Amino acid sequence: MRIDILTLFPAMFAGPLTESILKRAQEKGLLSIHLHNIRDYTTDRHRTTDDTPYGGGGGMVMMVEPLVKAVEDVRGADQHVPVILLTPQGRVFTQRVACELAAHDRLILICGRYEGVDERVRQLVVTDEISIGDYVLTGGELAAMVVVDAVARLIPGVLGARWAAEEDSHAMGLLEYPHYTRPPVFRGLVVPEVLLSGDHQAVERWRRREAIRRTWERRPDLLLIAPLSEEERWFLGELAEDEALRRAVHP
Ligand code: ADE
Repeated sequence: MRIDILTLFPAMFAGPLTESILKRAQEKGLLSIHLHNIRDYTTDRHRTTDDTPYGGGGGMVMMVEPLVKAVEDVRGADQHVPVILLTPQGRVFTQRVACELAAHDRLILICGRYEGVDERVRQLVVTDEISIGDYVLTGGELAAMVVVDAVARLIPGVLGARWAAEEDSHAMGLLEYPHYTRPPVFRGLVVPEVLLSGDHQAVERWRRREAIRRTWERRPDLLLIAPLSEEERWFLGELAEDEALRRAVHP
């Protein structure tokens, strides 16, 4: 997959892209990331990329011309590449959106700055807008890194064979079950016995149930759409009953 990132601050990307899994993905040729400085597409002496908003008001607006020129240059003849603007006004980024983006072989990400971008950038070149959450960052760069990271690890071969992205938290529609590793006892806290039993079926059942329990406790909204078996629905019913009981006793 090829990802082009348009930004005023390419140096911000150095750390995340040159370490660990993203670094290896690039070395293996599974991912290529190209950073483009939007300032290189300005035409005036001062290399201006922002200006005051028409109609007044505070803040600055990213100018239409450098951004549109940058997208057109980077996109080349390929009119079908998604051009994604990172903005708090976009659709919220979820695992589902990450999977959707991972199915493309190219993406162009635009990192907005200042108060926003000239609306005509949206009208002319943007095909999708993504927000990584309901909070406002100083710019789209950190959001772009989040998107690159979540998408890259879904590319086949990026994670090792023993590390299945399909079993991730959220990929199954549930939060993950609790994990343990050595030692079996630490400060009196013991690892659940079933995990030491060697009974793979029992381990699998325990993990599914704990994933459901955790999702019920922390993100019950996810259970509305999680694919659960009949038995797992019963288990969920028991959790709900327990809670109703607890509330009745300790209102
Ligand atoms: N730019 C500023 N805030 C953002 C957010 N929450 N998501 C994506 N891009 C942004």
